[in-house]
This record gives sequence, structure tokens and C-alpha cells, in this order.
Amino acid sequence: MVQIAPSILSANFANLWAHVAQVEAAGAEMLHIDVMDGHFVPNITIGPLVVQALRDKSRMTFDVHLMITNPDQFIGEFVKAGADIISVHAEACTHLHRTLQTIRNHGIKAAVALNPATPLTVIEYVLPYLDMVLLMTVNPGFGGQRFIPEMVEKIERLNTWRRERKLNFTIQVDGGINQETAPLVVKAGADILVAGSYIFGAADISTAIRSLRERCG
Ligand code: DX5
Ligand code: ZN
Repeated sequence: MVQIAPSILSANFANLWAHVAQVEAAGAEMLHIDVMDGHFVPNITIGPLVVQALRDKSRMTFDVHLMITNPDQFIGEFVKAGADIISVHAEACTHLHRTLQTIRNHGIKAAVALNPATPLTVIEYVLPYLDMVLLMTVNPGFGGQRFIPEMVEKIERLNTWRRERKLNFTIQVDGGINQETAPLVVKAGADILVAGSYIFGAADISTAIRSLRERCG
């Protein structure tokens, strides 16, 4: 069954826990936490202090998406703050294999995120070290952007790799996910749907989450 990971980027930051509590109550499996540094992406969001503050209240799996340069420097801080999964961008890692091992050595799950223009081949030799692959279906930095349709084929190809190599990492997609795009990516092989504006911008959060699940059968 597809898992739903609401992205807090589109939550109300002035009333963050009240908004996040609604997705937890609505049965979201994961909380997707977008960390941006103003260098790797042209936007700045939150750091470990906010993750820690939410961790004290929430039981959801914390899925931390690091859109930062030099992620190695901050892995320990985010683990301490309560991350269960950390995604680093392949484009930001000079020694990706080492970075993934660092994450796993902290006893949490390791994932790689790929920008839309980055080929799958950059992760070919680290697949056994991955618990999850995050395929960006928009260019990272902002919520509310349009899904890039060419990414469907990329998801299919990664799903084929997974099957052929008998691996069991999960495939997460992030960007432009809504009622129309969700069934396309799930059919292509996605297991976890990140959705920011579609969920936090909805009049009724639990209806939005339910509609994503229902559309994916
Ligand atoms: C974009 C972030 C996403 C973002 C998705 O850089 O990684 O997680 O919040 O937002 P939507 O679902 O609105 O495209
Ligand atoms: Zn994200």
C-alpha cells in the first residue's frame, strides 16, 4: 500500500505543531521535513531545532530531506534531533558511498535524492547501501510547482532496476503530487508520495490524504 508523507514546507509555520498534528491524526505514515540552506537551493527553511521540537510531540516517521551543501557536517545533528530517515542529494555529495555509510552507522535509514536532471546511473553502485531513493519530480526549493512528466519514465526505470537486482529499497517521489499525478507515479513504481501544497493547502487535510490513497487503489 502506498505511504503518504506530507511535506511541512507547505504547513503554517506560525502554528506548526497544530498543523502537523492534523496530518498525524489523519493517518499519514511519515512526516517529510524539507531542510534548505540557501546554497544548494534558492530558499532557506528550518534546522535541527525545529525537528527536535516536533519530535517531542509526534510519533510519525521523520523523513528529513536535506537540500544543503556539505550534508555530512549536519547528519549527526539531525539524527540527534530525531530523524528516522535522512535523504542527501547526490549532487551535493562528493563521496556519496561514505555519506550513506555515515547515516547508517547512526542506526537510521539512508536515502539519496536525485534532481530531475540527474541520471539514475549516479546511484548505480551504491544501491545496496540505500533504504530509499527519493526521485524529485520538480526542481527542489519550493512547494507548489508543476510535476515534470518525464519523471514517470525515470521512476519506471528505477523500479525495473530494483526488480532485476532483487533489491528492496523504497521509491519516494517529491514534487507536484496531487490527485492527477499520484496514480501515474504509483503505477510507475513509487511506494511513498510526498505531498506539500496538496495536503497542507487543502480545506480538509484528512480528505486530501484519503483522496491520494483512493486514487492509487
Ligand atoms: C521541494 C520539496 C518538496 C515540496 C513539495 O523542494 O522537496 O518536498 O514541499 O511540495 P509540493 O507537494 O507542493 O510540490
Ligand atoms: Zn522534499
